[in-house]
Amino acid sequence: MGKTSKDKRDIYYRLAKEEGWRARSAFKLLQIDEEFKILDGVTKAVDLCAAPGSWSQVLSQKLNERNTSESLKIVAVDLQPMSPIYGVTQLQGDITELSTATNIISHFDGEKADLVVCDGAPDVTGLHALDEYLQSQLLLAALNITTHVLKVDGSFVAKIFRARHVTLLYAQLKCFFKEVYCAKPKSSRQSSCEAFVVCRGYNPPEGYTPTMKNPLFCEDYDQEINQLAGPNRVLVPFVACGDLSGFDSDRTYPLDLSELGEEFKGHRYEYRPVVQPPTEPAYKRAVQLKKANKLEKEHISKIKDVYEKSGSGDKKRAPDSSTVDERASALVDDDVLGAFASCFV
Ligand SMILES: C[S@@+](CC[C@H](N)C(=O)[O-])C[C@H]1O[C@@H](n2cnc3c(N)ncnc32)[C@H](O)[C@@H]1O
Repeated sequence: MGKTSKDKRDIYYRLAKEEGWRARSAFKLLQIDEEFKILDGVTKAVDLCAAPGSWSQVLSQKLNERNTSESLKIVAVDLQPMSPIYGVTQLQGDITELSTATNIISHFDGEKADLVVCDGAPDVTGLHALDEYLQSQLLLAALNITTHVLKVDGSFVAKIFRARHVTLLYAQLKCFFKEVYCAKPKSSRQSSCEAFVVCRGYNPPEGYTPTMKNPLFCEDYDQEINQLAGPNRVLVPFVACGDLSGFDSDRTYPLDLSELGEEFKGHRYEYRPVVQPPTEPAYKRAVQLKKANKLEKEHISKIKDVYEKSGSGDKKRAPDSSTVDERASALVDDDVLGAFASCFV
């Protein structure tokens, strides 16, 4: 690939270089701000998963333009090291680890941030369900840190994947924020399921105590989670149904229940077929083969011979006509070869 091919293909990549942003992602935050004005009035911000630093650049530039106040504070964190950015305190660490979270919080020293942003993305594995899960865990780690450092009414912006379980994340975020939006900036490729939650009006449930003891960080579930109280730990009623005279499902009972005593007198065992067997059970083919005696060991080795000679495993090769007789003697038809291929090859 030539040096200029990415420049040609991607206008935002080109513009980022022209305007001095470290990554094209800068435009995503700028476009979110254009729409939601999330940077208005912000003097303290946290940038989670910040490397190489284009969102921190946007924060530094915009907040410094809009404020003369000495109290500007921007803290940026990433697994990777970053080159320095004016006015940005940089930390290196994993945001899913308690020590990193504690480090970020210590930089606020009792003060609160107006805004937390997180553009975090785990290394994509290509397994969609796993990628979606890892992304949601990163977002929950960011939310956890946010509950410690964000002031009431503050804002939180984070990358999400708009995948199957995203509504659960929205519901979780809605417990903490008055407004939750899903934003897709123009600079985020349409072909990608990437989007950003824009959460405004931080408003934790009454009595909620920010804690790092959530399932993500906890080492001893029993010690940590089971000690939480109030809205931090929701308990739902456990209801046992049925009275004590019901059969115990963990016990094995005699076939003839009459053996259990007078109460079951006359209750003799009688075999009955299942009330409604499955219509297309996975084992249907196996039952058919078994009935035709085609699952015997010696038969399977005959099928294997025919399979190999007929070239059934080689889609490009036509079946060999010389095997026709052998097939007949081995009771092997195309169905059997197919079943053989799916089970043994
Ligand atoms: C898309 S990049 C962020 C780009 C950045 N917003 C910018 O504008 O330059 C995603 C970043 O998430 C970071 N990351 C992924 N998992 C992380 C974790 N558990 N803790 C901290 N950073 C993480 C990666 O190291 C990577 O630098």
